[in-house]
Amino acid sequence: MPTTPVVSRVITKEELCLMEQVPSSCGIVIFGASGDLTHRKLLPSLYSLVLEKVLPKQYYILGLARTAMSDAEFQAKARESLGSAGTPAQRDEFIRHCLYMAGDYQDIKTYMTLKQKLAGLDQVYETQGRHILYLSTPPSLYESIVQQLGSSGFAESRGEGGWVRLVVEKPFGSSLATAEHLNQSLHKVFREKQIYRIDHYLGKETVQNILMFRFANAIYEPVWNQKYIDQVQITAAESVGVEHRAGYYDQSGALRDMFQNHLFQLMSLIAMEPPSSFSADAVRDEKTKVMASLCFPQGQQIDEATVRGQYEAGAIDDEVVPGYRKEDGVRADSTTETFAALRVNIDNWRWHGVPFYLRSGKRMPKRVTEITVQFKHVPSSIFRPLMAEQISANVLNFRIQPNEGISLQFEAKHPGPKLCMSSVTMHFDYEEAFGIKPPEAYARLFQDVMLGDQTLFSRQDWLSHSWTFLDPIIERWAEQKGKGLAFYPAGSWGPREADELLQKDGRQWLTT
Ligand code: BG6
Repeated sequence: MPTTPVVSRVITKEELCLMEQVPSSCGIVIFGASGDLTHRKLLPSLYSLVLEKVLPKQYYILGLARTAMSDAEFQAKARESLGSAGTPAQRDEFIRHCLYMAGDYQDIKTYMTLKQKLAGLDQVYETQGRHILYLSTPPSLYESIVQQLGSSGFAESRGEGGWVRLVVEKPFGSSLATAEHLNQSLHKVFREKQIYRIDHYLGKETVQNILMFRFANAIYEPVWNQKYIDQVQITAAESVGVEHRAGYYDQSGALRDMFQNHLFQLMSLIAMEPPSSFSADAVRDEKTKVMASLCFPQGQQIDEATVRGQYEAGAIDDEVVPGYRKEDGVRADSTTETFAALRVNIDNWRWHGVPFYLRSGKRMPKRVTEITVQFKHVPSSIFRPLMAEQISANVLNFRIQPNEGISLQFEAKHPGPKLCMSSVTMHFDYEEAFGIKPPEAYARLFQDVMLGDQTLFSRQDWLSHSWTFLDPIIERWAEQKGKGLAFYPAGSWGPREADELLQKDGRQWLTT
């Protein structure tokens, strides 16, 4: 007979907040540790976990890369990346845990030396064979590193209570075929439960908050469907250009760089059905179903539902900036898109007929990521002569970054004549409400890897759907070469064609 679990007492919301688990001691190996990401994001995030007292007492961070460097040199670089956060003693303590090893990724000797090194460190730090292996090298090296890890026996932990988890930085493939090939290579060595595919957007507090907003409040769910929602817009705008990443970006472009992962993740969270629980697979099952319900435009339909652009010289905050083709490392005749806009339709009962407009670009007027849900107009107006369409529709805005928060726009009586009304906004500001800035996304993600929680990581099937949707678009754009690439001046909201995409549907972009 199944027994009903006995709940001794109800846990309060306040107690739940304090229940963040402290992970067990572990060693973190960062492959590609001389790179930019390690110093810009990974080390500062790990250090922030120390400051918040959520990193285990016993831990070590071993950077591995080809560059010859001593522990002291690596530590000096690491110190620079911490800035002035915490006390000098806290910084010294953290830096002592950062070590370095130089090695050739293709050479089995590197892995033999690494193995010995980890065995020694595990003794010192009592980490009992618990290892996070973080791949932050150029993606072309992932397969050979994983293969070498497999042949030198890194995938399984030997110690009791040990575990080994592999973190894979984006980009995860550059097409369906390459992503599946990479998955197969990973699965030859690691089990799916050991693989953590990073999408740092999922670690952002405001992105996680979409789930709370939708499923911890009863008032939105009844109107969260095609009966009440007219359209959803997702904008991820950046004012920066390609920066020093032309080598990668010129091969990638905005679709692969921002849509395949970040924008589609945001769309999945907005569109998913309520999961059966807040467990990794329940949440990811529902997100995958959204991707499986996408309508696939083909041929001519692709041209009608997509826009691609590239920035030309212009000005941002009064500073003159060069065009994309004049950036260091970019081909002079490059047709890589630095901006894209898509109309996406999700063909299921909840969303049939509701367009999702997605856009992202570099060198736009400001950095802003937001999701805007526009509701339908009132069905009929009692405020004649005003007609229903003249009464502004409600707009719900999730401000992912910066100035994180949520706002709801609605109609209110304006002081004055009887029929005077205008749109007003109710606003929740993250920093004002909680008195702190949202933490760094990578810190949350590191903590989850240590705890073995895969909820905020991309699953293989979700990724395959995402590539299946994008591949035909990428292929068509490649066939058309420069034809169809629209140019926009740096500092603008993208090419005119992106506005026309919505105008054809009688709509416009709603960026705040
Ligand atoms: C990365 C992209 O994944 O996300 C970059 O490769 C982009 O091109 C970055 O600039 C944006 O991240 P964020 O957190 O600054 O919005």
